[in-house]
Amino acid sequence: MKVRDAVLADAEEISVFLQELAALGKRSLPSDEAYVISHYIAHADKVRCSVVEDVDGTLLGLQILKRASEGNTYGVTAGWGIIGTHVRPSAGRRGVGRALFAETFDAARQAGLEKIDATIGASNPEGLGYYEAVGFRTYKTNEGSVSKCLELTAETAPVPK
Ligand SMILES: CC(C)(COP(=O)(O)OP(=O)(O)OC[C@H]1O[C@@H](n2cnc3c(N)ncnc32)[C@H](O)[C@@H]1OP(=O)(O)O)[C@@H](O)C(=O)NCCC(=O)NCCS
Repeated sequence: MKVRDAVLADAEEISVFLQELAALGKRSLPSDEAYVISHYIAHADKVRCSVVEDVDGTLLGLQILKRASEGNTYGVTAGWGIIGTHVRPSAGRRGVGRALFAETFDAARQAGLEKIDATIGASNPEGLGYYEAVGFRTYKTNEGSVSKCLELTAETAPVPK
């Protein structure tokens, strides 16, 4: 597995596995290529958008880290990071999410982010378990969702690669 920056040419393949997630009821946001480009690969507030590539070149997952702008639609404090993670269903629980986060963590540090928000559906045990596993902790519960935060202090341990 290799982690690298997402490029526009990845949009089609990413869209396919996002549609697979949607078909399994694990995604409710749009999954088309245009959305992948505008909201992930080329978003104006992007700090890092990474993909994991398998040895045969298949894309196994995507992680996006954005910087929250004033009045962002997620209701996240301006200046915090906002993270999203999407792993191809057939590649689940193989460490793709962990590999992505190691890159994202470095990017967050380099960008000087102090906190990252992850908002997850309250009935999404894999999402909740994943973000807990990489160090996020619940700071807010909303109707139907749970918001977790990772604080990046000088003492925050780096994520093993
Ligand atoms: C959540 C998700 C990103 C996890 O990605 P992944 O590549 O499967 O995660 P990893 O294999 O790196 O697992 C890391 C840790 O997360 C936790 N985790 C992963 N899948 C889990 C599951 N199904 N149930 C509980 N915990 C889980 C575990 O602690 C795991 O560590 P372990 O395998 O050593 O026990 C992936 O399942 C996914 O894309 N789900 C659909 C979309 C989604 O829910 N995104 C996140 C919320 S928006």
